Order: sequence, then C-alpha cells, then structure tokens
Amino acid sequence: MLVAEIDGRLVGDCSIHPQGLRRRTRHRCGLGISLLQEVWGNGLGTAMLEYAIFAAKDFDYEQMELEVVSTNERAIHLYRKLGFVPCGLLPRALKYKDGSWGDFTQMVLDLRTIERKTEE
Ligand SMILES: CC(C)(COP(=O)(O)OP(=O)(O)OC[C@H]1O[C@@H](n2cnc3c(N)ncnc32)[C@H](O)[C@@H]1OP(=O)(O)O)[C@@H](O)C(=O)NCCC(=O)NCCS
Repeated sequence: MLVAEIDGRLVGDCSIHPQGLRRRTRHRCGLGISLLQEVWGNGLGTAMLEYAIFAAKDFDYEQMELEVVSTNERAIHLYRKLGFVPCGLLPRALKYKDGSWGDFTQMVLDLRTIERKTEE
C-alpha cells in the first residue's frame, strides 16, 4: 500500500493485492485507489498509479485488474491513460438506497507490455 500525505494528513491510498495464490493465478494482482476529493485533479492519482504499476512489476506480477463504477469517467480516463483496457461489464454490481443500480466496468493492464523503470 502506498499512501499520500499533505502536511502529515492522509489524503489518499493506492494498493495492490494478489488475485490468487495458486500457481495458475499468482501472475494477477488487483488494484485499488482512493483520494480525498479536495486533492483531485492535481496529478496525484496518475503519480500513485504509475508507482503502483512499477511496484507490481517489481513483484513479478504480469497482469493488473480492477473494477470501476461505469459512470466514473475520471477514473476510467486515468486507467485508460496508463494502458488499462476494458474487458467486461458486471451489470447491477451496486444497488443504491433509492433502488437504482450501478454497473462495474472491468479493466485489465498487461504488465508485460510496460517497460520497467530504472531509477537512479
Ligand atoms: C480517480 C482518482 C484516483 C483520480 O485521481 P486524480 O488525482 O484526480 O487524478 P489525476 O489528476 O492524476 O488525473 C485525472 C485525469 O482525469 C481527467 N478528468 C477529470 N475529470 C474528468 C471527467 N469528468 N471525465 C474524464 N476525464 C476527467 C483529468 O483531465 C486527468 O487527465 P489528464 O491527466 O489526461 O489531463 C480520484 O478522483 C479518486 O480517488 N476518486 C474517488 C475514488 C475512485 O473513484 N477510485 C477509483 C475507483 S476504481
């Protein structure tokens, strides 16, 4: 897990987790990211996600996966920008208090296509 702090206050986190521990699934990791709304739009999400992608490569994951609410255009834009592609849609993944539904767009990033960053 990677966290972002501003003046000692936690404003966001980004984490990767295994999708399975068996030999056939241990190449896959999942991703979660969430920032306080007051810091959106400053490039922090891009920076944290880029870091998480290179960390995943360092852990020898080959595929990163996530689910995002289909109306979350900001997040979907960010994921596409960093190479994720949509691979499915889960209808009625969420049921809201007013009885309406939210779908999940499933996205995947082939980490084998990402060049490993060399840091000084
Ligand atoms: C999604 C999230 C992590 C993005 O973080 P952020 O710091 O705002 O992201 P950045 O500033 O690095 O980049 C945002 C990008 O979205 C674009 N964007 C902003 N609003 C947009 C919209 N309504 N539609 C499409 N793109 C949008 C920005 O232009 C920017 O793209 P660019 O770098 O190509 O110009 C953050 O908004 C968040 O935590 N949201 C709540 C939790 C969430 O949705 N998590 C993901 C769930 S899977």
